[in-house]
Amino acid sequence: MPAFRVGILGATGAVGQKFIRLLQDHPWFTITALGASERSAGQAFREATVWREPSFLSDQVASMVVRACVPEEFDDVDFVFSGLDSGVAGEVEPAFAAAGISVISNAKNFRMHPDVPLVIPEVNPSHLDWVKRQNWSGEGAVDENSAKKKGFIVTNPNCVAIPLTMSLKPLYDAFGVKQVTVTSMQAISGAGYPGVPSMDIMGNLIPYIPDEESKIIEEPLKMLGVPAGSGNEFPIYPTAVRVPVLEGHTLAMVVELDRGGVTEEMVRAAMTDYVSPVADEDLPSTVDPAIIVHTDPFSPRPRQHADQASGMATHVGRIRCTETVQGTIVSYITMAHNTIRGAAGAAILNAELLASKGYFGV
Ligand SMILES: NC(=O)c1ccc[n+]([C@@H]2O[C@H](COP(=O)([O-])OP(=O)(O)OC[C@H]3O[C@@H](n4cnc5c(N)ncnc54)[C@H](OP(=O)(O)O)[C@@H]3O)[C@@H](O)[C@H]2O)c1
Repeated sequence: MPAFRVGILGATGAVGQKFIRLLQDHPWFTITALGASERSAGQAFREATVWREPSFLSDQVASMVVRACVPEEFDDVDFVFSGLDSGVAGEVEPAFAAAGISVISNAKNFRMHPDVPLVIPEVNPSHLDWVKRQNWSGEGAVDENSAKKKGFIVTNPNCVAIPLTMSLKPLYDAFGVKQVTVTSMQAISGAGYPGVPSMDIMGNLIPYIPDEESKIIEEPLKMLGVPAGSGNEFPIYPTAVRVPVLEGHTLAMVVELDRGGVTEEMVRAAMTDYVSPVADEDLPSTVDPAIIVHTDPFSPRPRQHADQASGMATHVGRIRCTETVQGTIVSYITMAHNTIRGAAGAAILNAELLASKGYFGV
């Protein structure tokens, strides 16, 4: 694999810092440029922001001068990751793509765009091919045979949509899904820094997260290939709750299956035996198994399990089945690290798959 030079847009933010932490020692990607707002541009990274990750920040990255997020300032990268605030990602990301700099984005702005892949490599890697339909510069779509490919945008899903979709995929494939009811217990790190005021969240929970539930309804359906309006979609009924946990979103799932007669053993086997379509790709950030099924009824727990498997696994536990006249209802808990598996790590895995498939050109 050739080495790729990468930039990080929104490098000073919570997700941007996670990108830096995960990329500092990456075997394929080398950070060559950092971007943020005009407030930070022109300063060394270590002066522009406070490093909050629980890991070493290299001198090389700390001394990089932060740039404004305009493509002309990023002429020394092969592609960029974006952890930009959604208020600016809508303008900045297409400007980079139009300039021929592909964007692997963590922002919400283009997730539901019909030509933009919304990808979990272990679920829907073939959607990456949609980048060929994109045309941000107005000069024609990506030509897979041309030496200099045009820029594209690829997104990863919302931090709840990832464990929801990962854990649902084996059930969807094996038994069919009629509807899903989910209550998410979301860590405070999901709100960025400084996030929810400590006096609101300590010893407390907040039963509403603005702008969250619509993403939980829409994004899994796009990834499973049954987008809203397709006629094959199933309803998802979410309740998003903020809880006093630092890292790791936990979801209480109730899934009505298309068929009856499904037992806990069958559900456990479907999840345990699930073979990721990229299992053989040898990507640096994949983990095996992609889904860790716990039999201890007190697991998974965010503090004990979110960091396991480099924070990239989806955990499942407390599988229970109830038989009804309409079919089997499966209840379970799923949990994943929200800022690694649910954000920066997800984008890096997407980029690894794109790199291994040759999408970044030469
Ligand atoms: N936090 C999570 O767990 C999480 C999970 C999934 C998705 N996301 C998404 O990821 C994105 C980043 O979230 P975050 O929590 O990291 O936010 P954040 O901490 O507020 O960071 C935002 C970043 O955007 C930059 N920025 C703001 N205005 C800008 C402008 N006008 N031009 C260029 N850069 C600008 C900021 O630079 P300055 O420091 O210079 O202001 C900072 O680097 C958001 O779209 C969010 O919805 C977050």
